[in-house]
Amino acid sequence: MTRLIFTRARKRAYGAAVIALLALLSLLMWPDAAWLQAAGKPTPGHENLQCSACHMAAPGELRQQLQASFRYLLGLRASPAPIGNAEVANSACYACHERPTEHHPLSLMGELRFLDVQTEHGVHNCTGCHQEHHGVRVTASPTICSNCHSDDLVVNDPITPDHAALFASGKWDSCLRCHDFHGNHQMKTGDYNYPSTLEQGVASQDVLDHLGAGKSAYGPVLHPAKQGVSPK
Ligand code: HEC
Ligand code: HEC
Ligand code: HEC
Ligand code: HEC
Ligand code: HEC
Repeated sequence: MTRLIFTRARKRAYGAAVIALLALLSLLMWPDAAWLQAAGKPTPGHENLQCSACHMAAPGELRQQLQASFRYLLGLRASPAPIGNAEVANSACYACHERPTEHHPLSLMGELRFLDVQTEHGVHNCTGCHQEHHGVRVTASPTICSNCHSDDLVVNDPITPDHAALFASGKWDSCLRCHDFHGNHQMKTGDYNYPSTLEQGVASQDVLDHLGAGKSAYGPVLHPAKQGVSPK
């Protein structure tokens, strides 16, 4: 009787050890294992997204990926091959963030005239301004507007001080007090599409909180994100 229990327990222990070993081995051999550990804090609102909502497997089997990497190391291939996961594409973001009222569509941001800004800030990609795993809404500088708007002429300018004065004095930290970036918020105040005085606009600190992980400065969005996937 005792012997039987002992054997069973031992069998179970061996079984468990073998399973644990196999699990460990497959984890070690799985290229995503280390990768899984490395993610930082999600962008606010992304806490419940599945990793696979953004990270898709890179093309090719692991063997092909390793071969391609080897060829790259030997100088037989021009670019390194992605292993495990492909670079996150804009299409992943668009799948949940589609905004018909977009003021700055990527097609516009990707125009050739902005080549310098693309090279320096990656504005032709969502992640140029919204790096993931940094725990903030926006990773770009709030003064990034200066790269494209410094030569603008706002005709019949209704604001005081006017845009020409703001541009000339380099007040690029004021823009987001009156303009949201994507046009996905109701910003109309009085006769104009945006506030016409800084007092009517958003307080500077509230803009910074919005860009970080704080309360949203602009109120409810017009086109909310799709929840899309079930929580992980
Ligand atoms: C909203 C989209 C999104 C979600 C959801 C997401 N990631 Fe990422 N992740 C990114 C982006 C963008 C990068 C930057 C590198 C890139 O473009 O591939 C990144 C980079 C990483 C990196 C750095 C290494 C690398 O591949 O460059 C790790 C590790 C990572 N993610 C793990 C995770 C894990 C684990 C989860 C789920 C808990 C997750 N991610 C969910 C968008 C996302
Ligand atoms: C599976 C759907 C999904 C995907 C994919 C996704 N998001 Fe999101 N995102 C959400 C949801 C849901 C929220 C929470 C806010 C909401 O409900 O509108 C959010 C919030 C955000 C916010 C903060 C918005 C706020 O006002 O708090 C930013 C910025 C953002 N996403 C950018 C991105 C970028 C950039 C990508 C691609 C790398 C991406 N998202 C991919 C669903 C998604
Ligand atoms: C040039 C920089 C830049 C690029 C490129 C950019 N964003 Fe933004 N985004 C911002 C700034 C600045 C804000 C904060 C102001 C606001 O809320 O409109 C913001 C806010 C957001 C928000 C929260 C407010 C809202 O509109 O719902 C989401 C979600 C978002 N971006 C998603 C995206 C996605 C998806 C892409 C790619 C299709 C993208 N962004 C490309 C700068 C950028
Ligand atoms: C990569 C270049 C680029 C960047 C960076 C950029 N914009 Fe723009 N923006 C444009 C273009 C292009 C238009 C379309 C109008 C035009 O052709 O001038 C536009 C349009 C606008 C409009 C008019 C939208 C409307 O239809 O009412 C506003 C307001 C605006 N941008 C504000 C900003 C603010 C604020 C920032 C910084 C947070 C910013 N932009 C960053 C290129 C850019
Ligand atoms: C005090 C609020 C306020 C500030 C600050 C402000 N704007 Fe404006 N902006 C407006 C108003 C109001 C309009 C006119 C909108 C209308 O015609 O209804 C406008 C118009 C624009 C336009 C032209 C949009 C169009 O429909 O033709 C652009 C581009 C623009 N602003 C960019 C900027 C940039 C870049 C900054 C930062 C230097 C900035 N604005 C700062 C309120 C402001």
